[in-house]
Amino acid sequence: MGWIAAPEPGGVLRPGWAVIEPNPEIARKGPCAMEKGICIADLFRRENEYLGKPVLVQGWVRTRRDSKAGVTFIELNDGSCFRNLQVVAETALGEHKPTMGSVTTGSSLRVEGTVLASPGREQSIELRAHRIQVYGGADPAKYPLQKKRHSFEFLRQIAHLRPRTNTIGAVTRVRNKLSQAIHRFFQDRGFYWIHTPVITSSDCEGAGEVFRVTTLDLQKAAAALREGGNPFEEDFFGKPVYLTVSGQLQAEIYALSLGKVYTFGPTFRAENSNTSRHLAEFWMVEPEMAFYDLEDDLELAEAFLKSLAQAVLADCEEDLRFFARFVEPGVMESLDKLTREPFQVMTYGEAVEVLRKSGEPFAFPVSWGSDLQAEHERYLAEKYVGGPLAVVHFPRDLKPFYMRRNDDGKTVAAMDILVPRVGEIIGGSQREERPDVLLDQMKQKGISVEDYRWYLDLREYGSAPHAGFGLGLERMVQFVTGVANIREAIPFPRSPGSADF
Ligand code: 4AD
Ligand code: MG
Repeated sequence: MGWIAAPEPGGVLRPGWAVIEPNPEIARKGPCAMEKGICIADLFRRENEYLGKPVLVQGWVRTRRDSKAGVTFIELNDGSCFRNLQVVAETALGEHKPTMGSVTTGSSLRVEGTVLASPGREQSIELRAHRIQVYGGADPAKYPLQKKRHSFEFLRQIAHLRPRTNTIGAVTRVRNKLSQAIHRFFQDRGFYWIHTPVITSSDCEGAGEVFRVTTLDLQKAAAALREGGNPFEEDFFGKPVYLTVSGQLQAEIYALSLGKVYTFGPTFRAENSNTSRHLAEFWMVEPEMAFYDLEDDLELAEAFLKSLAQAVLADCEEDLRFFARFVEPGVMESLDKLTREPFQVMTYGEAVEVLRKSGEPFAFPVSWGSDLQAEHERYLAEKYVGGPLAVVHFPRDLKPFYMRRNDDGKTVAAMDILVPRVGEIIGGSQREERPDVLLDQMKQKGISVEDYRWYLDLREYGSAPHAGFGLGLERMVQFVTGVANIREAIPFPRSPGSADF
């Protein structure tokens, strides 16, 4: 048996080393054999195949401990999985004595060794090192991530190092799995992925929470405005444009040509709300389906959330166990429940009644016509239902112009899906496909008919019933992992007053 490993960095295969072929079935579930060496996830998954064989691994030192007997134990993590690999080396590893001195927490290593059954109780295998190379050291006096619990606030300040922590590493793997599962769900059902624009002249949600994109000199533009001019004519696009708050309107265009589509990408909202569930930049996935009504829409959203939950339960078990133990005890149970039980549904009117009769001391009182606040959403999902809940048919005044007006004239065919701990995770609706009603809605909401001529055109030419929804990826990550603040659910959070890295 040769070495089960790959070329040295930048080098050719060592004579006698074999590259173990990535197994596609295993690769689908997570990182597999790498081009250079093997990853620790693969090693643990195929322990029996690797036992007794020489391998090459590379990663970062989590901890190092020296025994009196002259043996060094290194906990090595390469990000491929939650677990560390225990590397066992002679403290004075032959020619490498100086090397061993710089094996400290945070340093990065290349280790060649043999996979052995471990006598320790903590792990079934370990790596007996023959050769260790330190790529980069980390001064223990300065390295910020020492072996203790750090607050999430502190970790946000070192977002360049925080993915090396257990929590953010696990969040990152879960987020990746969710993204993969999102594409798989829609691709398996014949949806087309549409790349809707980031720069747009429309404000889909009509809430005015847009970031303006401009190349204008702001001082000169302000002066021109004061003099009654229109500086935007001079701007890059010749008119005011913004970062998108939603790809829905453009997705509707494609749904009314290709049938079933989705958009999935960065979304921007300049809402000045410093809350634990709002980001200024987040990722939203928005499916849009021709010939769907609200009921079809809700059915799809339920199947979608269930399939995402199943994907993480199936492939992220180790990370989920960590969240259940150290972050939020209820995560496994709430995921399991989401996959098993049908979603409850109630109308907005019913929800208001439930809230009024609840006797809860809400900060915001509720009556028909008032928007549901985070505290109301959480009460409904957490206490009243104890699981996912869809609230449908909201008052027209609370929702954007594009939602389909119900026959009662007061409500629209909207749905919000609420889950415990997070509140609203999905917002969607059936769209207004009748040109006259749409025009009326636009006038009432003060939407420029001229700017949205194309949107009205879609109702003039081959209009069809259609519906869709949007899921905030970070809220889903929050729900799955239990992290209390949405800023832990995205690699580089952007929120009012904060856009570092
Ligand atoms: O309810 P929203 O505003 O709906 C729309 O944007 C529709 N155009 C979607 C559609 O029908 N195609 O946003 C949808 C979801 C919310 O339920 C929430 O999960 C997430 O996007 N979201 C945010 N996530 C993080 N930070 C914010 N500021 C968010 N705003 C919305
Ligand atoms: Mg919403």
